[in-house]
Amino acid sequence: MRAHMPAGLYAPNTAVLQDGDLTLRPLVPEDGRHFEALLAGDEAGIAMTSHLPYPLSAQQAREWIVLRTGPGGHVFAVLDAQGRFLGSMGFGGPKDGVPGFGYWIGKAFRNRGIATRAGKLCVAHARSLGVRRMVAETFPGNEASYKVLRKLGFKDAGPVDRFYPLRGGARTLNLHILEIV
Ligand SMILES: CC(C)(COP(=O)(O)OP(=O)(O)OC[C@H]1O[C@@H](n2cnc3c(N)ncnc32)[C@H](O)[C@@H]1OP(=O)(O)O)[C@@H](O)C(=O)NCCC(=O)NCCS
Repeated sequence: MRAHMPAGLYAPNTAVLQDGDLTLRPLVPEDGRHFEALLAGDEAGIAMTSHLPYPLSAQQAREWIVLRTGPGGHVFAVLDAQGRFLGSMGFGGPKDGVPGFGYWIGKAFRNRGIATRAGKLCVAHARSLGVRRMVAETFPGNEASYKVLRKLGFKDAGPVDRFYPLRGGARTLNLHILEIV
């Protein structure tokens, strides 16, 4: 899956993205406390992610954030009109220039179209950085995420074998690819 390396992908993420009452601003380590607050008790939600532990402490979340917000990482806090933290979404960790796309939304805010709207902002932002392809992976049975990806234009690209120690080791996930035109 070779592609060109868009230089914009390695610039620091300072973007603020907006769609009506929804704002995406760069995620910072202090947001770890919001991860802890929103994901506490959401074992099923965390089980759909590859690298978040359960139970999740604010310190563990901070470490997760630091690893994803260096060069090549474009990960955002998703906020509502009141500045309430709703979840996180972003792309990064490019392999051969192809970034991976990931996200979660707090349980209380799901099924209101937030991930889809935030996703459209992220895809448009990736395009503006010169990204022409993104990949996402879903665990089997994650119908909500599957739907979000389809609404964003991702196409199913079949199964992919991964090793995720926090998710039981060897797992087969579904790969999804977005060609950004
Ligand atoms: C996946 C996730 C981010 C979706 O966030 P969201 O803001 O609720 O997403 P949206 O409201 O934009 O879209 C969700 C869609 O899935 C549908 N959906 C929700 N639960 C579903 C289920 N169990 N079965 C089928 N469809 C489902 C919703 O009806 C909606 O579809 P619609 O727009 O056609 O009505 C959220 O569920 C989440 O954080 N899950 C846990 C973490 C996770 O899975 N992250 C992604 C890892 S790949």
